[in-house]
Amino acid sequence: MNTSRPSFLLAALLLASPLVQAAAPRPIPPLLPEDAAAAEADYQRYCALCHGADRAGHANDHAPSLKSESLLRTAFPWLLRESIAYGRPGTPMGGYLDEVGGPMSLDEVRRMVIWLREKGGSPEPLRLGSERVAGDAQAGAAVYAQHCASCHGGQGEGGTGTALGNPAMLATTPDKFLRHAIEHGRDGTPMEGFAGTLSPTQMDDVTAFLRSRATGWNAEPRPLVPPPALADAVLNPDGEAPEFEFKNGHYITAADLDRILKEKRRLVLLDTRVASMWQLAHIKGSVPIPYYSDPEAVIGSLPKDGTWIISYCECPRAAADSVNRFLREEGFKNTAVLWEGIGGWVALGYPTSVGRADP
Ligand code: HEC
Ligand code: HEC
Repeated sequence: MNTSRPSFLLAALLLASPLVQAAAPRPIPPLLPEDAAAAEADYQRYCALCHGADRAGHANDHAPSLKSESLLRTAFPWLLRESIAYGRPGTPMGGYLDEVGGPMSLDEVRRMVIWLREKGGSPEPLRLGSERVAGDAQAGAAVYAQHCASCHGGQGEGGTGTALGNPAMLATTPDKFLRHAIEHGRDGTPMEGFAGTLSPTQMDDVTAFLRSRATGWNAEPRPLVPPPALADAVLNPDGEAPEFEFKNGHYITAADLDRILKEKRRLVLLDTRVASMWQLAHIKGSVPIPYYSDPEAVIGSLPKDGTWIISYCECPRAAADSVNRFLREEGFKNTAVLWEGIGGWVALGYPTSVGRADP
């Protein structure tokens, strides 16, 4: 590991995120000969097996070229760094960072990134920006099937070409990175540019299609379920009041909550997390009252007749605690917060419902 000069590597790669790529380019100082030699040794030891001794790719497992100018111009430094550090789970490309069990330190990964660029002739990075490419994903699906599936796989699983449906790849590549590869190809590889074959609109469409696969190749768009109205928040309106003992002040344990729900006691259960999390999974019968809700609407709709109001969020309990404090200040007497949070609730094996599956 290079301990002598980690700071310049840091400076060179500080502008690492695609969001700041549009900022003024900074000159990247060249590697010292001993650092370049160490990077080359790492490369031959760890990478040559698949990416080839000469970095041309396709030595094994269809590993892509690491010398194509098109890649080095658009992927330097952040995509190279992310791909090397964390890999592409689900493909032969593993993560090389020690943090995930790999053999390289972060400085060694950074040194490798600079070395790859220098070996490729230090092409000027293209600052593509992170704006979305607007396109018709459905039309793009047809373009994909006709022009791309033969190499990239019918489900984006990869073949001769990279796995374009890989969630790690899609999570780390802005639209314009994909769009650039589609238009210009990857020089020296089977990936030819589609500039002459497809219209700009078709290239936008297929980019939008790939982007739309980011949550899974066959994932259906999930319809959002309208949450129950606050006015209908009281569970078991004819039930008895729940009985339980507070834990640590104003908390109820998951075991007690599970029991009083099964006993069909009269109570209100509030999910105080951001409402998208209620859609993903929630405790059955809960009403989403995100911590950012309009206080007046909440006070006006909740029963003030002593009905128990139990709030939960993730653990630690910040959101539910703040809603609970607010309710007490407003004069709601019987309130409690789920001690374990929904994370603990799930971990202990208690059931949840999915927003979209609820009747
Ligand atoms: C066992 C084979 C294998 C080894 C060893 C390997 N890679 Fe990879 N690498 C791959 C494959 C396959 C992909 C494409 C994965 C995909 O389909 O998304 C890939 C992708 C990449 C990418 C992303 C390129 C792009 O166009 O998106 C980079 C960068 C990369 N590898 C660098 C490295 C480096 C540096 C090393 C050594 C530290 C290394 N790889 C070792 C197989 C390998
Ligand atoms: C003849 C086979 C072939 C066809 C057809 C093809 N590709 Fe590729 N594609 C490849 C290969 C091989 C690579 C990896 C290039 C390399 O070695 O660097 C690649 C790379 C890419 C990349 C870069 C991925 C990355 O992580 O760097 C994108 C994006 C891409 N292709 C999109 C497409 C799209 C969209 C189509 C259809 C319009 C298409 N390709 C058609 C073979 C092909």
